[in-house]
Amino acid sequence: MPETPPPPPDQDPGKVAEIPVELDRSRIPTHVACVMDGNGRWANQRGLPRTEGHAAGEIALVDAVDGALALGVKWLTMYAFSTENWRRPADEVRYLMGFNESLLMRRRDELNEKGVRIRFSGRRDWRVPRRVLKQMDESAELTKKNRRLTLTMAFNYGGRAEIIDAVKAMVAEGVAEKNVTEKALRKHLYHPDMPDPDLVVRTSGEHRISNYLLWEMAYSELVFPEVLWPDFRREHLYEAVLEFQRRERRYGGLET
Ligand code: IPE
Ligand code: IPE
Ligand code: MG
Repeated sequence: MPETPPPPPDQDPGKVAEIPVELDRSRIPTHVACVMDGNGRWANQRGLPRTEGHAAGEIALVDAVDGALALGVKWLTMYAFSTENWRRPADEVRYLMGFNESLLMRRRDELNEKGVRIRFSGRRDWRVPRRVLKQMDESAELTKKNRRLTLTMAFNYGGRAEIIDAVKAMVAEGVAEKNVTEKALRKHLYHPDMPDPDLVVRTSGEHRISNYLLWEMAYSELVFPEVLWPDFRREHLYEAVLEFQRRERRYGGLET
């Protein structure tokens, strides 16, 4: 038997967490990227199938978006499915494809009303079912004029795949060796206009990157809260931003 699960998170909308007073509103990270990890363990703890953990992660995603909006974060990137996640059992992969498709159908209107631009990062032309691509395209189209927050779903995303795809695009363009620079490579990433993440948050206590935003993360601050993704709420985002504000970013130089 699984151990007694922790009590469910407080989902009373009347008790939305306040932004902590000690959080410096003038030093909000521009771009926060999350690895939404721990869904399977959350379900296991409750004796539920892993897929129930993914389903429960939807509330966490929506609350994280609301927290980012409240803080004034401009870019939020969420790891939803990696190029390596195809290695999971076919049933779980099928579930995740359908879940992401239906999540977009369920949530895109409310996200649109909140001023969220939905975008996708990852390999489009490899394995993703056509019907999922259709929902992705429609969600991006619907929200493309919004600028309050850009929510990028990293879907069928791999950091190595992104770099390979950028290199291939440069080779196809015939970029000369002398023009192969960091700036040129960046221009060929999936979203050249996306700033590098200032803060990366991986839930579930795993201290690894798992092929996320490898190029973009070169100087990100990394925070690893223990909370499992389905229990993540905006207060966890606020805590991560507080931790970010305690860090000293140096970029290889020295403190000025
Ligand atoms: C993250 O949760 C969601 C995806 C990778 C799609 P996991 O499914 O990895 O959950 P754990 O790590 O097994 O608990
Ligand atoms: C990373 O989590 C991918 C997503 C959250 C979508 P994983 O659970 O797949 O990563 P590993 O296998 O623990 O490294
Ligand atoms: Mg995991």
